[in-house]
Formats: sequence, structure tokens, C-alpha cells
Amino acid sequence: MTSRPEAEQEAIPTTVSKKEDIAAEPNGAKRKVFVRTYGCQMNVYDSERMADVLAPEGYQSTEDMEDADLVILNTCHIREKAAEKVYSELGRIRKVKEERAKSGKDMMVGVAGCVAQAEGEEISRRAPIVDLVVGPQSYQKLPGLLDEAKKGRKVVETEFDIDAKFDHLSERAAKPVMKRAPSAFLTVQEGCDKFCTFCVVPYTRGAEVSRSVAQIVDEAEQMAASGVREVTLLGQNVNAYHGEAADGSTWGLGRLLRRLAEVDGIDRLRYTTSHPRDMDDDLIKAHRDLGSLMPYLHLPVQSGSDKILKAMNRRHTRDEYFRLIDRIREAAPGLALSGDFIVGFPGETDQDFQDTMDLIRRVEYGSAFSFKYSQRPGTPGATMDGQVPEDVKSARLAELQALVSEQQQAFNASRLGMTFDVLLERKGRNPGQLVGKSPWLQPVQLDAPEDLIGSIQAVEIVKIGSNSLFGRLIAGQDETDDFGVLPTSAA
Ligand code: 5AD
Ligand code: SF4
Repeated sequence: MTSRPEAEQEAIPTTVSKKEDIAAEPNGAKRKVFVRTYGCQMNVYDSERMADVLAPEGYQSTEDMEDADLVILNTCHIREKAAEKVYSELGRIRKVKEERAKSGKDMMVGVAGCVAQAEGEEISRRAPIVDLVVGPQSYQKLPGLLDEAKKGRKVVETEFDIDAKFDHLSERAAKPVMKRAPSAFLTVQEGCDKFCTFCVVPYTRGAEVSRSVAQIVDEAEQMAASGVREVTLLGQNVNAYHGEAADGSTWGLGRLLRRLAEVDGIDRLRYTTSHPRDMDDDLIKAHRDLGSLMPYLHLPVQSGSDKILKAMNRRHTRDEYFRLIDRIREAAPGLALSGDFIVGFPGETDQDFQDTMDLIRRVEYGSAFSFKYSQRPGTPGATMDGQVPEDVKSARLAELQALVSEQQQAFNASRLGMTFDVLLERKGRNPGQLVGKSPWLQPVQLDAPEDLIGSIQAVEIVKIGSNSLFGRLIAGQDETDDFGVLPTSAA
């Protein structure tokens, strides 16, 4: 449906566009930066922060690469061919750079993100147009690194200095911005110590680090002041959050959510992505208690086979997962679940795969993301015996996706006739149309005046599309319950 998994390679590249908060160069001229983002929401957040860090240096964001003095690719390494995609994109950029050079204009090229972290110097060796390689922990150093690169030196910065990153990023985020989109990401935790045997994240993003409660609350307040109504807390392993509070105690994610629920103007909270092992009682209770915590949870399980879960080092069994889901649903009966699945992990037999299918049937997901296992260099899975042939992976993926799609359609259809709160986020494709988001992260299209963008409105669902719901504004109706669901029943 609409949420993206914690990290995702095949995402459509997005550009960062922050027209506000733009500083001029000392001489009044403006330089332009084009950032292309691949992968997870954390990269989207990081790209915005890169734009923030560059703004006082006189860089204004542009969506037009030809127009850019600086191009940054913010890359993802989670699945196959990520590095190859970056190299072919760099080939295209080289042509743009050559075109610009004809009219005497220079262009600097940077590679950021997890491919930068994983490949390091190899990038500027293979792609000489790259001036700067910068890993996710070093974005606060961008201005200095750019100065170095301008002197003609090839700069590669892949140190892990995550505290400095957070300190600096929140300083920047605290600068007033004019107006922001109604829904925003806020990184609360980065890195992962879980070492699932298929996953590169612990290597590219490093060890788990949480931001302090004060930094996060400040940033949320700042967001609220600039028009944000919905905040999605981000972390590779977000529910492992353990941040320091003002009194020196350590808060978990449940406690943090309770605090953020008190921030005036922030009406909706979400978090992603979680590991089943870290769903503690307090977090589950937060789902029961907090009206602003949306009834949607992305909780990847990856496989339904105990043997494969063990080989993946997920550190829980399928039964433990079922029991956890029961507890979550007991606490928050209306909650929709989403998950990530990998098919064709080394050693996966037909029976193991059928165990995954059975798990999906039993849990019933509102949406799910599924991938063919991809060997990531340096991870234990890459060298395990029993690698599964590509055609078997493809067949299993198709079977799994058919089931998940059926469940997703059924979940969407169950919203027909319901009335619930929708956060109106942007203009739709047709004139007079707006697009918003349901509590369960479904896009909702409806006719409504543009000045309602940024508000939460009661909407009755009148039609179900393949990817979105169609609704009708219920004027003046704001008597919804905790999740904004009116007691009117489904059709
Ligand atoms: N191969 C396939 N899928 C992977 N994921 C992570 N690493 C791999 C890999 N090596 C998937 C997992 C994870 C999601 C973000 O990407 O399902 O939850
Ligand atoms: Fe990767 Fe596992 Fe950490 Fe998620 S929990 S980021 S899958 S190592």
C-alpha cells in the first residue's frame, strides 16, 4: 500500500525540494543543489537535512539536474544491483556535466548514503566524475567536505561519528522553516545491532544509537510550528529506541510516544520500522492508550518457518510472533498490520515457504512488502549453503504477492461505508481533488477545497480503488473516536 519498508532499493527516486529556508551566497548569487534519494524513509529524512545543512552555504534546492551546481545521489544498499544502479546513474550525470561544461558551468558530484558507506573510495576510482563520497554519519560535515573537494581533492568521508551527526542535524532543524508538508519524518534512532544474516544495515548504518528525548521533542515542536500534523518516527530498528531523558533516565519508544502525544499541533504519530523482539509491554500499551498513535504497525517477520527464522538470526519463533500479534490486537483491536517478507533465503524448502504462506493467512495483513533474497556481500547469508535458484525465488514471490494482494484488497474493501478522519495532504491529479491519508496509511482521494490541505477531516468512504480509497467530505463532523472512526458501520 503506501508505507515503504525500513529500507527499500527499488523505490522511485525522489528529489528534495525545499524552497523555503534558502540562504544566499555572500555575494548574493545562489548555487543550486539537486538531491536524488533512493531507498528508505531515513534517506528521505537525511536528504532533507542535507539540504538544510547546505542552505546557509548558499545552496538552493532544484528539481532540475541540468540546473544544478551540485548533484548528490543519496543511495541505498539494501538489495541487489544497488551499486550498479548508482554507477549507471553516474554515467548519465557525466553527460549532463559535460553539457554544462560547454557553457562554462561547473558541476560537482557527490555520492551519499549506504552505497557510499559500503563502497567508499571504490566509487571515485570507478567513476572519476565523483568529487565527494560521504557516508550517512557525516552529512553535518558537508560544507567543509565540499570546500575540500573544490580544491580538486577527491574526498571520501565514511567515518562513524553518529553523535556529531545528530547534534548538528537538530541544530539545523531548529531553524525556523516557513511551511512544511502536513506529514513529516523524524529520525529518533539510527543503526542496528541485530545482525540478521541477510541484512547490510548493521554494516552501513553502524551500531544502534538513539537521540535524546529533548532533541526529538524540540524537533517535533518545531515541526508543529511549521504546519506538520503527522510525525512518523524513524529508525532502522525504531522500537529499540532507548534515548536519554532530561533527568538522565532512559526512555523507551512507548514513553517517547506518550511525550510526543502532548506536543500541541501534532495530531498523528507513527513509527517505523520495528523488530518483533523489541515490541515491549509499554509500547503495546501506548497503542491502547494514545488516540494520536495511528492504528497501523509495520512489523516485519521475514519468514514463517522456524528453521529459516533461526538461520536469519531473527531470534524469535513463529509462535512467539503469533503470540505477540495477539497481544497487540488485544490492546488495539482496530490496528492493521504490515510486514516484510523474504523468499528464497538459503536453505528455504517448499515446506518452509508454505509455512510463510500459512503465517500470512493466519495473521491477515493490511499490506506487506516482499522481496527475493539477495546475497549482500559481507553478510553471513551470502556464503551460506543452499542458495535458492532464481526461478524458484520468482515463483515463490509471485505466489506470496498474490496472497498479500488479496488480503490488501480485502482490507481496503472493509473500509467501504466507514467514516473516519483523513489528513488532507496535497492536491490530487484532477482539479478540485485532494489526496489524504487514512489512519491505516491508505491514500484517500476526495473533492475538497485546497485551503483544507493540512487539516484533518471526517470523510466517508464511498468507493474502493485498486490503490486508494475514494471519499466524501462530511462537513462539520468532528465527533470521531480515538482513531477518528465514526460509529457508522461498514456497508
Ligand atoms: N535480500 C532481500 N530482501 C532484503 N531485505 C533486507 N535485506 C535483504 C536482502 N539481502 C528486506 C527485508 C527488510 C526490508 C527492508 O528489505 O525484508 O525488512
Ligand atoms: Fe537489518 Fe535485521 Fe537490523 Fe532490520 S533488524 S535493520 S533486518 S539487521
